Parts: sequence; structure tokens; C-alpha cells
Amino acid sequence: MQPASIAAEIALDAVEKSFGNTPVIPPLSATLGAGEFTVVLGPSGCGKSTLLNMIAGLEPVSAGRIRIDGQEVQDWEPKDRGCAMVFQNYALYPHMTVAENIGYALKVAGIARAERQQRVEGAARVVQLGDLLDRRPGQLSGGQRQRVAIARAIVREPRVLLFDEPLSNLDAKLRHGMRMELSHLHRRIGATSVFVTHDQVEAMTLADKVLILNEGRIEQFGTPHEIYHFPASLFVAGFIGAPAMNLIEVEGDGTALRLPDGTALAGSAHRGRAVLGIRPEKLRIAEDGLPATIVYREDLGSHAVLVVRLGSGQEINVSTPLGGDTVAADQLSLHLPEAHVHLFDPASGQRLNVTQGQVR
Ligand SMILES: Nc1ncnc2c1ncn2[C@@H]1O[C@H](COP(=O)(O)OP(=O)(O)OP(=O)(O)O)[C@@H](O)[C@H]1O
Ligand SMILES: [Mg+2]
Repeated sequence: MQPASIAAEIALDAVEKSFGNTPVIPPLSATLGAGEFTVVLGPSGCGKSTLLNMIAGLEPVSAGRIRIDGQEVQDWEPKDRGCAMVFQNYALYPHMTVAENIGYALKVAGIARAERQQRVEGAARVVQLGDLLDRRPGQLSGGQRQRVAIARAIVREPRVLLFDEPLSNLDAKLRHGMRMELSHLHRRIGATSVFVTHDQVEAMTLADKVLILNEGRIEQFGTPHEIYHFPASLFVAGFIGAPAMNLIEVEGDGTALRLPDGTALAGSAHRGRAVLGIRPEKLRIAEDGLPATIVYREDLGSHAVLVVRLGSGQEINVSTPLGGDTVAADQLSLHLPEAHVHLFDPASGQRLNVTQGQVR
């Protein structure tokens, strides 16, 4: 198959959506780069599918403009937009072979048999289904069926590939394999891709850029590295990472960030209330740190997650490699490296520290 699609930039310009009187997406603007793999990530009901459907043309916008490759498309029919979509429930025609399923849209479009066959074989090769073209969907595994759905989308040589949770029906092992395949596929065909999921592992592993949605608003639009290491808001900080980032209410006195009982957690020039964030794996078990009591431990084989209680009563998560002694003890002592401390405004939830938390 030709590196099919001429990748196109997608520009969302104050795109809005309401269902009746209920606003679902307030004006939203973002530019998804040509050939980039953008993952739209957010909790259930935040508007991910709605956003994708507006790009595809399956759902009209309430206001705003969508440009694909510079052309305003928000009033165009879905079939004219050059987008192909892969859904979670990729209904294949059970009575058709894999080849017929993949080529159906081309047949409907009146493309001649010889060209159709060539394109179907090309698309099947891309998703490594070349040997299964004569099978019927009932004779395929879940992952193979998913690949048929993807081949059916790419055979049309779209400018834009849209995925709505295409992996959520697969088991964990298959999902891992499909993530790898999707990533390779993206590099081979180079179409601009938008992939909706609520699975942060998919987002972190597949994305060039992650667009994090919360109640229809963009919380952050950045690379996986940026959203993990430099979360723009409390929402992103709490949403990305497992176990989740520890978020602790503190008061800064200009020299240190302190718990209500006065305990200093980390040095800082910040004054006033703040939420301190620190990832469980960034806490250091040190000789002379904050005393803490282990109240719960989970041994995950490769590492352990400890729930520890500080002197103030505050409980936090610590993720640590399995080192016999420290993990076996009931007490330990913790250090919060300043470079890994994130600070957020408790009222707005926005990130406060622009210099700290950057060095990784
Ligand atoms: N046709 C509709 N009419 C009214 N409300 C709708 C309609 N479609 C979606 N909504 C509402 O819009 C909001 C966003 O829905 P959407 O399907 O985009 O969420 P999502 O982020 O894809 O969620 P999920 O992860 O569960 O698929 C939800 O509150 C939903 O109830
Ligand atoms: Mg959805």
C-alpha cells in the first residue's frame, strides 16, 4: 500500500457543542499537527466521543469552525471530509469474507474490481492480515477482527484516522500487542490520527500529543512527557500516573512548605496556601527525612507500593523497588526532593511552580 494519506492538519477553532440546553463542550480550540498521533484522554462523559464525532461530521457543531488541511469542513458531509473512523464496536459483516469487509466501502464507491483488490491486499498487508483474506469474521480472534476494522478504515486512504476506544473490548495482552501494532501502523501510513481513550497507558504509549479533557475543557495539551512531568493542573496531576500523585495541602512561609502541624515537607520560596504534589516513585527513603509509619503494603513483584502515615496523620503512597530491609520495616524516613515537588493553587487548581518540577 502506498503511504496513503496526505496527512492533514486539523484546526479546531472555538468549537462548541450543546445537546439541547446542556453544554457539553464549551468553546474549544486546538491544532492537531499534520501526521501527528493525538490521544484525547479524559474520564467517562467528558466529551471525547462528541469531539471526535464533530471532526468526523457524525455530530454537527453548535458553533465554531473545524479546518482540515485549511478547508472549513464543519458543514460538510462526513463522506467528504476525508476521515475514516474505527469504533469500539467495529461491526463487521458476518457473512462477508475479510477481503469483502475491507473492500466494501470501495465497492459502494464504485471503484473497479482490479483496483479494489489491489487496495484491499495493500491494506491487509499493513495490518498483517494478508493470509486471512478468505476467512469470515466468526473465524477470527478479537485482535484480528479489530485489525479488519482498521484495514477497512485505511483502505480508503483517509487524510485523517479517527479511533474511538478501539481497544477497550480486548484483553490486556491483546491490547498491548495492538498498541504496538497501531504505533507501527501510524508510522507506516502517516495519516493524522486522533485516538480517544480513557486509558492513560494507551495515551502515554501511543501519543505524540495528549489532549486531556475535563467536562469538555482542555486541561492540558502536551507530549506524554509534559503531562506526566509537568502537569498543568491538579486535575492532570491526579489523573495521570498510577498509583496517583500524592496531593497534600500545605502552607508556604517563604522558606518551606509545611503541613498544618508545622512539619516542613520541602524547601520553597512560596508563601501562602498551596497543594503540594509528589509522585509516589519520587519520594526517597532516606536516613534523616520525615518519620513515617507503614500502614499498608502491596508487593507487585517488580516494586512495592507502600501507604505510609506521616506524623501529622496524613497518609501518602510511596512506590519503591523491593529492597528487603526498608520494605520489611514498620517505620521509615522520607525525603521529598525539591526538583520533584509540584505546586498547585488550591482555588484554581492551576500549576504554580514554573521552575521547580521541571528537572527530570
Ligand atoms: N445525543 C446526546 N444527547 C444528549 N446528551 C448527550 C448525547 N450524546 C452525548 N451526550 C452527553 O454528552 C456528554 C459527553 O458525552 P461523550 O459521549 O462525548 O463522552 P465520552 O467522553 O466519550 O465518554 P465515554 O468515555 O463514557 O465514552 C455526556 O454527558 C453525555 O451524556
Ligand atoms: Mg465515548
